[in-house]
Amino acid sequence: MSVLRGKKILLGISGGIAAYKTATLVRLFIKAGAHVQVVMTPASKDFITPLTLSTLSKNPVHSSFYNDEDENAVWNNHVELGLWADLFVIAPATANTMSKMVTGNSDNLLIATYLSAKCPVYVAPAMDLDMYRHPSTQDSFAKLEAFGNVIIPAESGELASGLYGEGRMAEPEHIVAFLEKDIEGKLPLRGKKILVTAGPTYEPIDPVRFIGNHSSGKMGYDIAVAAANQGADVVLVSGPTHLTINHTNVKLVRVTSSSEMYTACHDYFDGVDVAIAAAAVADYRPKHVADQKIKKNDSNLVLELEKTTDILASMGEKKNGQFLIGFALETENEIEHAKAKIRKKNLDLIVLNSLNDAGAGFGHDTNKVTFINSRFEEEPLALKPKEEVAKDIINKIKEHYNV
Ligand code: CTP
Repeated sequence: MSVLRGKKILLGISGGIAAYKTATLVRLFIKAGAHVQVVMTPASKDFITPLTLSTLSKNPVHSSFYNDEDENAVWNNHVELGLWADLFVIAPATANTMSKMVTGNSDNLLIATYLSAKCPVYVAPAMDLDMYRHPSTQDSFAKLEAFGNVIIPAESGELASGLYGEGRMAEPEHIVAFLEKDIEGKLPLRGKKILVTAGPTYEPIDPVRFIGNHSSGKMGYDIAVAAANQGADVVLVSGPTHLTINHTNVKLVRVTSSSEMYTACHDYFDGVDVAIAAAAVADYRPKHVADQKIKKNDSNLVLELEKTTDILASMGEKKNGQFLIGFALETENEIEHAKAKIRKKNLDLIVLNSLNDAGAGFGHDTNKVTFINSRFEEEPLALKPKEEVAKDIINKIKEHYNV
């Protein structure tokens, strides 16, 4: 999944021959799952039509402050457009546009929007090699970078003039790859390793039967995705669920029983920065697992159960700097019980679900939780989708690392 998925990209096009390549660029942004709007300088319309770009971006193209052929025209709000964007990509950026960006000469909508934008701005220059090398252009690069813009380096090759050298706009595929790499490199949890447990465990009775529970695994999977989206390397140890996960930063380790989950967690625990136990691990398992299917007879069947190892508590015991987060599902004296678990399992944070809250816990897409930290400070949250609860949990990790 591309890091551009769901991002609002504003593409600014200025008047260079490389503008013809922006049709492909818009296609690639859309394919990556981004929302795209286009703002063009008047000169760029000589190289590619607004109709092409509005069709591909599925949005009207902006190119002037107002439509002077329409007497009911409204003023195009460059401030709104600038604030809409999560990232602003100016490609191609001509020498002229870059010098206007440097001086703040906002005589067209693209520059006015640039001056209003609060998001990261990427600039993909395109020009002839002598223009590219000229000290004034090099000065523009230095100033644009000093303003915090990111330059996507031009490439070498045959230029529209017939000359050969540096100045070609980076190929659309390279622009997308550059953006992905740059954004991923700046994600707040980049370099952090996070272990997440999810789903139920199945404890075997005989070769065909088990003791299980109704956990869907959704909460743990949502946490894994939220952490990975912030740049963390995630190991997701999952009991049996119907869920799948497809994220380059998530390694999925499937297990069935609590003892398999225990082994998998301890395979990774020493090497992680954070561990989050969202699995509904069975507390008891059959003491003897029958080799053959148990046949029914006329009397009752009594299964002797033994306690499973508490995986979370075992990580708490072994903890060596890891930030450890557990869950608690309670039906009475919730806060008191959750606080006791923080102490007993040596946790840094507990996420308390109360079954007394409608829409919380098993079988719902929503959850209502209270965070309690190791200083026993309580933070009750509103009922919200599990994806949002997952993001709140990840925000706690970011707070911990001050990122
Ligand atoms: N947990 C675990 N291994 C177990 C049991 C629980 O890792 N064998 C973890 C769960 O993933 C959860 C937390 O412990 O993060 C709390 O589990 P919960 O069942 O609410 O509490 P218990 O400690 O099992 O206590 P009780 O059942 O008495 O409430």
